[in-house]
Amino acid sequence: MKKIANVMGSPISHSLSPRLHGYWIRKYGLDADYVAREVTPEVLEQTLRSLKGEYAREDILFRGTNLTIPLKETALDIVDILDPAAKAIGAVNTVVLDEEGRLIGRNTDGIGFRDSLADHVDIDRFQGGTALVLGAGGASRAIIHACLEMGISRLFLSNRTLQRAEEIAAEYDGAVVPLPWEARASALETVDLLVNTTSLGMTGQPELDMPLDGLKAGAVVTDIVYVPLETALLKQARLKGYKTVDGLGMLLHQAKAGFEAWFGVKPDVDDDLRQFVLEGL
Ligand code: ATR
Repeated sequence: MKKIANVMGSPISHSLSPRLHGYWIRKYGLDADYVAREVTPEVLEQTLRSLKGEYAREDILFRGTNLTIPLKETALDIVDILDPAAKAIGAVNTVVLDEEGRLIGRNTDGIGFRDSLADHVDIDRFQGGTALVLGAGGASRAIIHACLEMGISRLFLSNRTLQRAEEIAAEYDGAVVPLPWEARASALETVDLLVNTTSLGMTGQPELDMPLDGLKAGAVVTDIVYVPLETALLKQARLKGYKTVDGLGMLLHQAKAGFEAWFGVKPDVDDDLRQFVLEGL
């Protein structure tokens, strides 16, 4: 029985996910397909319920879907079961149809961030450490969750709209400290991990103005932006001798859990995959 998974969102034509999952399907020789579908929030519930029914009657088995903008929050009220990460992050990026026909909502963005970091550094070093996260959107919420799970004990959260940072901080009992955008460089000497989760620095967006003078020795600097692969922030950090981690790894690693749950194979993230996905940009 052919297994099918989707990525749903709107607009969806630029998604790299079909390229990524298609690579793994071919690599592991699976009888499976991964297809992009244009879906708006208004029809998400109906789409999920009908896919489940239709495919189960034929020779095809719908296994689940990835969700992207603007569906990640919509799905919170639609799935039958929410996993703890999706609940804490407040968004679903992966839906898995289980054997009893229930839709399980998961969020694998935090795992993606952690595993990408772990490709480059020993993440145990962040136990009891301090992080500075720039930006307070959806990606930020997943990364904050991952940072605290890795043992970060103090996390400065700087955002242009301070209120958004304050709202997230209120969910985390003192571990998350909101910082006005103008003060984003004030904590650098204590920071073990710096993460840009804003869209600044992406091709076509303004640059992120973040001088790294005074950043703690040995700090790791990461960006979720992957176009360009080396943002001005990462270049500055590299030239100053800091370890850097680009945003592509998070995209690749967040996809693993869905692939494994739908198709039963735990896929590898390696240089060949990175290269193949980069060629699709
Ligand atoms: P995502 O879900 O991808 O994280 P988002 O919710 O739109 O996207 O969040 C984008 C982040 O980039 C926000 O933190 C946003 O700051 P605001 O909350 O103040 O909007 C930040 N951002 C975008 N453009 C910015 C700019 N020119 N200067 C500073 N921050 C910016």
